[in-house]
Amino acid sequence: MRPYHIKDVLITPRQLERRVDGLARELAAGVRSDNLVVIGILRGSFIFLADLVRWFDRSDLHPRIDFIIMESYGHGTTPTAEPTVTRDCSIDLAGADVVIVDDILDTGRTLQKAAAHLQAKGARSVRTCVLLDKPSRRVVPFEADFVGFRIEDAFVVGYGLDYDGRHRELPHIAKVTFTGPADTP
Ligand code: IMP
Ligand code: MG
Repeated sequence: MRPYHIKDVLITPRQLERRVDGLARELAAGVRSDNLVVIGILRGSFIFLADLVRWFDRSDLHPRIDFIIMESYGHGTTPTAEPTVTRDCSIDLAGADVVIVDDILDTGRTLQKAAAHLQAKGARSVRTCVLLDKPSRRVVPFEADFVGFRIEDAFVVGYGLDYDGRHRELPHIAKVTFTGPADTP
């Protein structure tokens, strides 16, 4: 595997906590519904979603919560295929106001596909909330309704995000810096 380090902290735990609190307020103001369903995209969203919904009770938001698994990345930092739903949502979405939660909006393919997929299940509305957005990487035209932080084009790990399956457990967001040449096939 290509040598790398993750010493550069882009977003600290304190910054994450404050912004996630702010996002929860924005959601509470923007999404009033008695049929609210929050759907996380696994695996990257698990920490962000858990922290986000912890702020909901103070705003009297009481969503049902489910997860879907979407896969597109093989190993490394480049998507290998179109994202597909490999584990579907099991809540009935007919008439629901859905908020999709994901870790990062990159090319836009995953969220575009997820939004269309959940809309097709009969949701009344589908909105999207991401912790991170890399606008310069967009391949399909897609913007999230709620964005935590806009970042430059760097590959990042931590707070749920992985590089080759690792580093999700970091309490901060760090940049992956490659220190050697790529493997030659
Ligand atoms: P998109 O379909 O290209 O928008 O990619 C979205 C998915 O790619 C995210 O849910 C992440 O799993 C993954 N991804 C994109 N950029 C990064 C990154 O910098 N670090 C870790 N995962 C990433
Ligand atoms: Mg992901």
